[in-house]
Amino acid sequence: MRCFIEVYGCQMNVHDAEILSGILGSAGHQITKDPEDAEAVFVVTCAVREHAETRAMGRITHLAGMAGCGSKPLVAVCGCVAQEHGERLLEKVDVIDLVVGPDAYHRIPELMTEGVRTAEVDQCSEEYEDVTPVRTQFPRAFVNVMRGCDNYCTYCIVPYVRGRERSRSASDIISEVRKLAAGGFREVTLLGQNVNSYSSGDTGFPELLEMVSDAAGSDCWVRFVTSNPRDLTPGLAEVMASRENICNQFHLPAQSGSDSVLKAMNRGYTRNGYMKKVAMLRELMPDIVMSTDIIAGFPGESPGDFQDTVSLLEEVRFDYAFLFRYSERKGTGALKLKPPVPVKERLSRLSVLQELQREITIERSKELLGREMTVLVTGPARVKGQTAARTRGNRMVILEGTGYEPGEVFSVRITGADGYTHFGMPVIPPVR
Ligand code: SAH
Ligand code: SF4
Ligand code: F3S
Repeated sequence: MRCFIEVYGCQMNVHDAEILSGILGSAGHQITKDPEDAEAVFVVTCAVREHAETRAMGRITHLAGMAGCGSKPLVAVCGCVAQEHGERLLEKVDVIDLVVGPDAYHRIPELMTEGVRTAEVDQCSEEYEDVTPVRTQFPRAFVNVMRGCDNYCTYCIVPYVRGRERSRSASDIISEVRKLAAGGFREVTLLGQNVNSYSSGDTGFPELLEMVSDAAGSDCWVRFVTSNPRDLTPGLAEVMASRENICNQFHLPAQSGSDSVLKAMNRGYTRNGYMKKVAMLRELMPDIVMSTDIIAGFPGESPGDFQDTVSLLEEVRFDYAFLFRYSERKGTGALKLKPPVPVKERLSRLSVLQELQREITIERSKELLGREMTVLVTGPARVKGQTAARTRGNRMVILEGTGYEPGEVFSVRITGADGYTHFGMPVIPPVR
């Protein structure tokens, strides 16, 4: 069958869609980029906030209506919404044929031939070791190091939809990274809901990162997401600082600047503890690019607590921040916490944070004007006639013209900045 895959949510899902492509390809199906041409449509969904879920469900109905070859395509809901609602999705939405959770993608080819509406959401410790993912991000590649999460932050649905934490063996990870580097990939991003709790035999995350850095070699950059601040150790920061190919970039979700909110969220660190870790990273890597996630309007967040978050953003001056308003999620501990912050107030707090961070992001970006930076070309930019590239800090740099190949690495001078996006000119035109 000709299969179309649409993906929502985090990088885990983007990589899971590559795994799904691999599974479909091995079973003799083809991948199409055109939903109108598809005989089967797969939507890999995210359940982390209500908005993400509603959007994915809307797309499912829409895609089902884009009749492939005159008849309704087979419609499969995959990912975290599938895991969350299971069979109920079949009852609620009649265009859906298959509901498949993140641990059950192996079953998809079989389910496609059975022609029966089914939900397959058993959780197991699936790691998809036998699947060759179809890489869609050349010259960048995602490598799973662990799946699942055991942290149970009280707002978060991920531990319920992604199951228990399990780490891949270091040797499997290393051999995947070696193959990618040998195949011309110029960047690997190690993926996990909480990479710092990676543990396989005697290997923890700092040791794994060292091994990956060796396996990637000098021509391949290394990044990782995501780290829970509670498990960020000096050992990890030292490995990062000591290795040339590990990018000086850190996504360190703070969620809140208030100790009482952090406690109610079950985050396992205090504001002061968080600030010390930021200081440690910046001391070892003065040019480190830092980003964060923040939730506004968590239950019980008083105006004073909210001010603590505002001042955290002001003090740290993140290069970038992903800001969310709190969204109730089924089955999570925070549902019981009181008092809820009214939705209107959540939105108004969110817009205060957005305005503040927008200014900080612009200020930080301007600091780079005129600087020379190394970039990796990733492919065509969204605007025709331009090329997109990334710095080691993962900032996007737009280059005029299209005469660049994905995977080229060279120096640019930063000539302009628009929010988090920069514009650059090659310092010396790349030699080919
Ligand atoms: N494992 C990652 C987070 C994955 S979810 C980590 O711990 O950092 C990505 C972000 O979504 C979270 O950092 C959080 O800021 C946000 N988020 C998760 N659940 C949410 C909820 N119920 N409401 C609003 N934002 C939420
Ligand atoms: Fe969710 Fe917390 Fe796990 Fe991140 S660490 S996925 S926020 S439970
Ligand atoms: Fe969303 Fe699932 Fe990722 S809930 S954030 S796609 S793990």
